[in-house]
Formats: sequence, structure tokens, C-alpha cells
Amino acid sequence: MNLAQRQQLLDDGYLVLKNVLSQSQVDAAKTVIEGALPKNERRILVPAEVATHEHVIGLFQNSNVPGILSDLMGPFPPIVSCQVAVTPGRDELGGIPGTHVDGGWSGAIPTRADEIDPLTHRPKDAARYYGRNDEVRGGNDGLLWMDPARRLSNGSYSALVGICLSDQTQPGNGQFGVLKGLHEEVEKVFQRQRASGGVIGAEGVDWPRIKIDERERPFCNGLPDSIRALGFERGKTNAPIADWPWRELTPVLMEPGDAVIALHSLPHTPTPNFGPNPRMNVYFRIRRLRPENPHEGSRRIAHGVSDHPDRGYFGQFLDYPEDYDPWQTSIDKLCDHWSEWDGMQDTLANRQSTAV
Ligand SMILES: [Fe+2]
Repeated sequence: MNLAQRQQLLDDGYLVLKNVLSQSQVDAAKTVIEGALPKNERRILVPAEVATHEHVIGLFQNSNVPGILSDLMGPFPPIVSCQVAVTPGRDELGGIPGTHVDGGWSGAIPTRADEIDPLTHRPKDAARYYGRNDEVRGGNDGLLWMDPARRLSNGSYSALVGICLSDQTQPGNGQFGVLKGLHEEVEKVFQRQRASGGVIGAEGVDWPRIKIDERERPFCNGLPDSIRALGFERGKTNAPIADWPWRELTPVLMEPGDAVIALHSLPHTPTPNFGPNPRMNVYFRIRRLRPENPHEGSRRIAHGVSDHPDRGYFGQFLDYPEDYDPWQTSIDKLCDHWSEWDGMQDTLANRQSTAV
């Protein structure tokens, strides 16, 4: 990784790596994924076993991405699964992209605005949607709370790696879209929430969990209010892009065999696919090794796919020693995200010294 690339990762919060895979590796994974897709169905759901297939996991393991990440970050536990993300061609059903920071809850919510408490931004009949004990509610790849004390509502990791398997060089083909550069602002929101002594994540300062859209429909709110506003504000200065109606989002343009590395804190979203072909990406979520954590490498965590690695993948609480608080550790990392990137420290120090 050269200095310009490190600088770009620092400034933008993401970086595209060209040609991390051979055409034959791309083809082998596509064959597995396409073979598993249901025919003649509009919505595409890939069976779970595909996510652990050697040709699919191999997109990460057998590329040079692990080496690059070790360089940038340091050691991380082995990955055991991934997220296969396929958006069908001519899929405009997605409508407005749901820009978010990963690790939030996005389960079933009430359909009417008057069912949401305007002060707490929770359902008035919370038990119906959150369960009777919302600190232990699992499932849906999302948990309401990470910790029994309900201080942390957002799961986290260090880097999202997206491997591209379909042509995404022209905007409007279902690209991964990002709020470029806003990773640092998201970190500041987490810092403000920590300083408030309240919740970190949704239900904390600046981040109502459920909001009401302009058509009076409740939606799970994936972003702090200030970040959404800042995204739109900064988007006004972005040059318009043909076939890309979302000024605030930057499309991540890739060819098959390319990869994108994005910080956990970088707000992102899939986008509608106006093109004829399915958009196919495979995502890996990597968290830098925490040597004090006795569960690092346990299959129960499902490292690679989980966005909440302080709990078991299915939401189960794990036993931790008295002297290790996994949630406080995660809060500290959310509030200082570059502390998980050993190989970025020189670039970071250089930026700080030139900024003074
Ligand atoms: Fe996401």
C-alpha cells in the first residue's frame, strides 16, 4: 500500500483495490452463486451454505486482501462466512437508498406514525416489536442492544471488504454508495454520545431509533440526524453524475475482481440497479484482533459476516472474564477508530502534524 492509497483511506474512509482476484477466481465464485439463485423470482435470497462455500470464502482468503489488511490493521481472526449481496437487474424497487452505519437494528416496526412515541422514538407498544426483554432480543442480524446494561446499541468491526463480481464501472448499476469522508464525523457523534454518559448508537444523542418519513411512515433510522444533514449539505458540492440521482452519495465504481475496503464508520448503502444484469458483491466484515478477548476466533462469532462480534452470531451472550469489558472496548474503538489500524499510524501522525 503506497502513501497515496493510505492517504485516500484516511481522507475518504474507503479505498478501491484493483485486480485483487483473477478472472478464474471470479468465475468460480459466480458459478456457485448463480447456481444457487432461485429462478424466476424477483427478489434474490442466496442460501446460507453459499456464504461458506470455499470458492466464495476464497474470494477473500485467496486474494491479496488479507495481506493488505494485515499491513494496514494488524492481525485479525480467521473469517468463516460472508454476506453474498445480489441485486437483480432492472431493480428499481429499492427506491430511496437506506444509507446507514453497519451494526444497527432494522427489525419489524409499526406501520403507522401514531404508533411511535414522539419522545423516545420507540414503538408505544415496544414489547410487541422488541420482545419483552429487549436487551436479549436477537435475530435478523441485528440486536437492539449489544450489552445487558443497554448502553451500546450499535455493533461494530474495523473494516468492511466488498469483493466485486459484476461490472460496476457505470453508475446506476447497483453500486455500493458512500457518504465519502463522513467517517470522521460519525466518530465525533460516537464521542459526543460517550461524553453525554448516555447510549452509544441509536437511542443516544442525535440518533432517534425510529423516525417518520415525509409520507408519515415509520422507518428504522440508520444514521445520526446530524450525519444525514451533513451528507445532504456536502452533496450539494458534488458534481452531478448521469444515471445517479443521489447527489450525497459517491458511487464506488469497480470491475469484477476489484475490492473496496471501507471503515465501519463510513455511512453506506446498496443502490437500486437500473442496469440489465444482477449486481453481485460479496462482503466480509473484519475486526482487528483483540488479544484480551477470549472468544476471538470462535465460530460462534461468525467472524466475516457478523456486524456484532461482541455477541454470538445469533445474539447469544458470551461469558467474559471479570477484567475484560467487550462493550466498553468497542465503545472506545468507535470513538477512536484509527486505533485499530496499526499500519495507518504514520499516515495519521503526518496528517495531524500538517494540520497544525
Ligand atoms: Fe451495511
